Amino acid sequence: MTNALKALVVFGTRPEAIKLAPLIAELRSRTGVSVFACATAQHREMLDQVLRIFGVSPDRDLDIMRPDQSLADVTAAALHGVASVIAEWSPDVVLVQGDTASAMAAALAAFYGGVPVGHVEAGLRTDIRSSPFPEEMTRRIITQIAELHFAPTRRSAENLVRDHADAEGHVFLTGNTVVDAVRQIAARPRAANRLFERSAERLILVTAHRRENFGEPIRAICRAVRRLVDENAGIEVVYPVHLNPNIQRPVREILSGHERIHLLAPVDYEELVALMSESYLVLTDSGGLQEEAPVFGKPVLVLRRDTERPEAIEAGTALLAGTDEDGIRGLAGRLLRERSLYERMAHAKSPFGDGHASERIADLLVAWKRDAASVQPFHWSGGEDFAPPVSSPAD
Ligand code: UD1
Repeated sequence: MTNALKALVVFGTRPEAIKLAPLIAELRSRTGVSVFACATAQHREMLDQVLRIFGVSPDRDLDIMRPDQSLADVTAAALHGVASVIAEWSPDVVLVQGDTASAMAAALAAFYGGVPVGHVEAGLRTDIRSSPFPEEMTRRIITQIAELHFAPTRRSAENLVRDHADAEGHVFLTGNTVVDAVRQIAARPRAANRLFERSAERLILVTAHRRENFGEPIRAICRAVRRLVDENAGIEVVYPVHLNPNIQRPVREILSGHERIHLLAPVDYEELVALMSESYLVLTDSGGLQEEAPVFGKPVLVLRRDTERPEAIEAGTALLAGTDEDGIRGLAGRLLRERSLYERMAHAKSPFGDGHASERIADLLVAWKRDAASVQPFHWSGGEDFAPPVSSPAD
């Protein structure tokens, strides 16, 4: 066995690609590391946009997306496809990110092939098995399979230790790679917003697409947004609408035809980052936006009942607004009116990292390949964003 590292990186959806692109670039920049990037393409257009922006071209594209695909379709197709790439390429490690069906299927394929799994953004939990659905179960399954757990925050590292992930593997506190991604993009020069004509003083960025919000919750979210705009002449809303038909239908039905509500096709990541930096407030059920918005000092209202990112609420960068029409409208209204509440949230410190998570993960992977027995839980000493290293209960 040589010290050279062969890392197979698998991603299927837009957020996985965003969060893995900085790690792929970092690993590719290291000597002695070969990277094989495999897209399951659980998403198609939305994934391709991200890959283009980050200059990632997959070494294999499994092209599994079908319209209105079921979770079983995605899981089965990704499992088969990734298993064949593993058989062909014999990686030392398979890297997956987060909690999608693609990530879970890739982890399982690696386990079947006898290849260790590294899990990026490990340890997020609501501790409610079906919320979010299916992600809470998906990430628990990945935790069971993985050997290397890269936790974004101290709390997620503690969740992993609580779930005994350190008994047969390693838990590392690295920060979230999304901060690396958003900083890279924000540093690029960009043209002015050409997506729509600005007409009001304050812009509110809205996104919502989660499965547990399909049906009445997404309708209630849309009604709240429409009333908010009707009641506040000085605001306008921009909403890039996810391609899932379960989202497209209600959003277009309730929010179309208002001159201060701009419904867009999914925007590319550079445009999204620009919209975020231009906005006054972000209303979202997305995890990624909760992590990205504090980089720009934008308060977030989380359009969900539960969250696996309580550190954002505790840090004061986000408020849990729920999916009730009056609740959302009430909280958003307060943020528009109460300057002190707004300022407190805008200046709260992000708990998600410092933009160097990919470097740490790459360092750890290289050290692990050299001598798996010698890698220590990562010792962070870089500032107050991060607490000291995780210790196992035995320490
Ligand atoms: C998936 C992930 C979710 C993640 C989200 C990010 C699972 C179970 N869910 O949910 O964790 O937060 O991605 O967006 O893995 N579609 C297109 N083109 C695209 C993308 C989607 O047409 O580029 C449509 C298709 O009709 C597809 C549907 O959207 O069938 C749903 O996509 P899918 O990947 O099944 O679920 P998401 O809701 O995107």
